[in-house]
This record gives sequence, structure tokens and C-alpha cells, in this order.
Amino acid sequence: MTFGRRAFLANTTLFAGTFALGARAAGVPSSGTDDLTAFIYAMPKAEMHVHLEGTLEPEMKFRFARRNGVTLPYKTVEEMRDSYNFHDLQSFLKIFYEGKSVLLKEQDFYELTYAYLTKAASQNVLYTEMFFDPQMHTDRGISFSTVMAGLTRAQTDARKNLKIDSQLVLCFERELSAESAMKTLESALPYRQHIVGIGLDSDEKNNPPDKFREVFARARKEGFHLTMHCDLNQLDTHEHIRQVLEDIQADRIDHGGNILERPDLVAIAKRRGTAFTVCPVACGWLRENGENINIIRGMLDRGLKVTVASDDPAYMKGNYVAESLVVAQGDANLSKQDLLTLARNSFEASWISSAQRKTYLAKLEVFQRQWA
Ligand code: HPA
Ligand code: ZN
Repeated sequence: MTFGRRAFLANTTLFAGTFALGARAAGVPSSGTDDLTAFIYAMPKAEMHVHLEGTLEPEMKFRFARRNGVTLPYKTVEEMRDSYNFHDLQSFLKIFYEGKSVLLKEQDFYELTYAYLTKAASQNVLYTEMFFDPQMHTDRGISFSTVMAGLTRAQTDARKNLKIDSQLVLCFERELSAESAMKTLESALPYRQHIVGIGLDSDEKNNPPDKFREVFARARKEGFHLTMHCDLNQLDTHEHIRQVLEDIQADRIDHGGNILERPDLVAIAKRRGTAFTVCPVACGWLRENGENINIIRGMLDRGLKVTVASDDPAYMKGNYVAESLVVAQGDANLSKQDLLTLARNSFEASWISSAQRKTYLAKLEVFQRQWA
């Protein structure tokens, strides 16, 4: 994650508009309009890069703190929001990890997940693969089963009440040891029917993908899909991307924008069909030779399988996936065809059965006939 000036400006500019658009998004906008924003909200889509712990909105944080007897270092929601000032991955993670103190009970994990799924369903997300970081919780003495019970109960209720389908992707914290990751993977095995994939997030500096080569090989053998973060502009980023593509052979890369600087890596990703989950609010731009290069535009132009996602919406001024697509559209002047490609990619890169994929793609086709 890089919080470049450009992304901040886009985000700040969008801020007021986001709330105005939110009201429209609550209902299904009428078809037959040229309004690209309405098009984006109504378009059937999947989201594959959202950290559940990153959906903990300040209001919810206060509510959980109150009922769990946790003291927060802020007096008001506004004060908390104002403190969300980060300039790079490390300063973001410091704030992000502070939030976990209020997540203690099964009900907290349930409400967190159900709230995200409610928001996603309101933006016509048909399917989502949600990241969660069990080490953030088990390290504080919360059992794996407590976390899983809350998450899966919310998924079941959302499937029934909101008609949104979801699966979980377990992420390891990469600054922790490979042994800790292996132990976490082993404690996840009894829950394998609820976990579709394994990912890697958190502090990338001096924590390369290859540190987890063995544990990801084991995860693959156990039948999980694989993804890994390669945040923007990190130390050794090209080597990290190479390791994900060639050594780990993951199915997807989260972010991965610096691949645009290396045609040889682009060629490998295209050959392997690697998908990219790009979060335009966190890092939509790459600065190269004094020029701003839009990552989504760059990936689309090179024929990479790029999808758009929100990452940590509660920490990014409430920009969920539809708002992230609005930012992407504005930044890169995306056409309806581009937006449809992003939505098609999101279903094609999802870890679902071919029957489920066919159903989603058929819905997208109906939408395209009505709207494009
Ligand atoms: N990158 C790394 N770690 C994270 C992120 C991210 O985008 N979001 C939450 N933890
Ligand atoms: Zn992320």
C-alpha cells in the first residue's frame, strides 16, 4: 500500500461526493442512463481484496469498546477519524493494528462481518472473498474458533438475508515467523470448508514471499488457493513480484502495481494467468520517470487480469468497492467497456465453481445488454 499524494487528493476530492452517491446506491438506479456512477453501483461485481479488520468503522469501534470495557485513546468518532493520517504502509499498519483491541467476542466478529456484507450487497457485490488475519486475534488470547464462529455465522445470515455469497481467505502477518504461519495454517485445517485461500499481508519490508515458501507449498498441497500482497513501491518489490510468480506460483497478487515497470514480469503474469487485485484509493498511481502512470489503466492496456477492490475501507474515508471503482473511473477515464472488463475479471479471478461463475457472468451479460 502506498498512500501517494495523488491517491490522497483523489480520495479527499471524492469525500463529499461519496456520501451523496451513497444514497443513490442504496436503491438500484434506473437503467438507460449515461451516468457512469450509477452504472458502477448497479454493475454486478465481485470483491477480492478487502480486509475484514479494515472494515471496522469508527462508530462500530466505539460501540464495541463501550460494551467490552475497552478504553480508546480518542474521545469522539471525529477525533478517531482525524487520527487516520498515514503516509506509507508502516504508518498505516500502526493505526490499523490499534483497532483490533475492541474485537473480543464472537458477536463482535459477527457484527463486523455482517456490516461489511450489508454494505457490499447494497453496491451489487454478488460475491466476495474476505481476508482475515487470525494471528491478530490468537496472539491476544482469542481462540481461532471464536473468530471463525463469528465470521461464518455472518456469512450464513448474509447469504440468506442479503443474497450475497462469500468465502474467507486467511492471511498470515508477514513480519511474524514462518513457524507461526505454519502453526496458524495447521489450526485452520479443521475449518477448511470455510476457507478458500491463503494470503500474506502486513509489513513487507525485509519479509519477502520466499520466507513463506514452505508454508505456501503446504497450503497448496492442502487444496487452498494462494495470493500474496506485493504492496506498491516496497523495498525489493520486483524481486518480491518475481518470487510470487515463479517460486510460490500464487494465483493472484494483491496490489502488485510495480509489475508495470518490468515487461519480463508482465509476460510471466500473462502466461500464468495471474490476477491482480488493485485498490485505487490506496495506490492507484505509479510514478515513473517523472510521470504518473495509472496502474489500472496500465494493467488493462497490457492485458493483465486486473480487478478493483477497496482494501481497508473504514480507514480510507469509507470508500468501499463502488466508490473505489468511481475513483478508478475518474483517474483513468475508464469507459463502460473497461468497467465491464473489470467486473468480468472479478468473476473470472474468483475461487468459485464453474457453475457459479457461469451464473454470475450471465448476470453481468444481462446488465450489459440493459446498460451498455
Ligand atoms: N497491505 C499490507 N497489509 C495490510 C493491508 C495492505 O493493503 N491491509 C491490511 N493489512
Ligand atoms: Zn490489502
